[in-house]
Amino acid sequence: ARITLRQLLDHAAEHGYGVPAFNINNMEQGLAIMAAADAADAPVIIQASRGARQYANDVVLAKLIDALVEIYPHIPVCMHLDHGNNEATCMTAIQHGFTSVMMDGSLKEDGKTPADWDYNVSITRKVVDMAHWGGVSVEGELGVLGSLETGMGDKEDGHGAEGKLSHDQLLTNPDEAVKFVKETKVDALAIAMGTSHGAYKFTRKPDGAILAMHVIEEIHRRLPGTHLVMHGSSSVPQDLQDIINKYGGKMPQTWGVPVEEIQRGIKHGVRKINIDTDNRMAMTGQIRRILQEHPGEFDPRKYLKPAMEAMTKLCKQRFEEFGTAGQA
Ligand code: G3H
Ligand code: 13P
Ligand code: NA
Ligand code: ZN
Repeated sequence: ARITLRQLLDHAAEHGYGVPAFNINNMEQGLAIMAAADAADAPVIIQASRGARQYANDVVLAKLIDALVEIYPHIPVCMHLDHGNNEATCMTAIQHGFTSVMMDGSLKEDGKTPADWDYNVSITRKVVDMAHWGGVSVEGELGVLGSLETGMGDKEDGHGAEGKLSHDQLLTNPDEAVKFVKETKVDALAIAMGTSHGAYKFTRKPDGAILAMHVIEEIHRRLPGTHLVMHGSSSVPQDLQDIINKYGGKMPQTWGVPVEEIQRGIKHGVRKINIDTDNRMAMTGQIRRILQEHPGEFDPRKYLKPAMEAMTKLCKQRFEEFGTAGQA
């Protein structure tokens, strides 16, 4: 059944678990996520970005979600808009059956200019007012995602701030977080603490200097009742990097967010954990393997099926690691 983000994260907070939010662009990813949720008996957040909506078409996405909910009636599904950039994008998602939207006012509508306080509060507050009339939840974001190592936003992934950012921008300020939640009434708050989107988050296994989990702990102390969201939370597992490179890929060595750091976050109010890159890598590794091992193969099902299975395995692992398993 469909569930709102607020309903799901309230349950997660009460029972002390986190919920992965997996990005979706097509049927294969939808089926893979739901197979994992079913196997783990886990509630799930499926999220579509603006790019996903353009790629798949809103009508296809809406009917795909209908189908997934019909196939798995016992699994609570929150359908969420990832990184909405204005009021209209949020409202059209709601029209298509999304039960939750992110109004990302940390950046201006262009998705690359860091926004000022007044812009973020006013646009987020407006979306919250409208969404709540329709019983839809809202995630806001305070602070700008980007690397504490380089000061850069994650522009190479097509997302995030342009140019060099200060630590002030890259780390959500706890005092401001308190004010922001009070003024906007968001259901969940995404914070910045050194993660970025995509595969190239860290040039070494992160420590507290480049992955500032202590910021989460401080915000949670000040806002114990607020559901926190970690973006850019793929772990970029070594084995997935190795499979891609073994079968002709060229990914330079990189590090993501270690699962144990996410688990530490879950102990301190993190309830929604956004993961896209890990699933992209899981699928791509298998597609590369099949095409290299069977160069005569040209039936898409022959490589998409192993790709789906690799994604299901990854999703199921995260449900188990985050404590979501068994909570459906
Ligand atoms: O926000 C980042 C997600 O990984 C979605 O990426 O905009 O390329 O679909 P996308
Ligand atoms: P990753 O690129 O780390 O998977 O992050 C995804 C994300 O934050 C989507 O909003
Ligand atoms: Na989001
Ligand atoms: Zn994100």
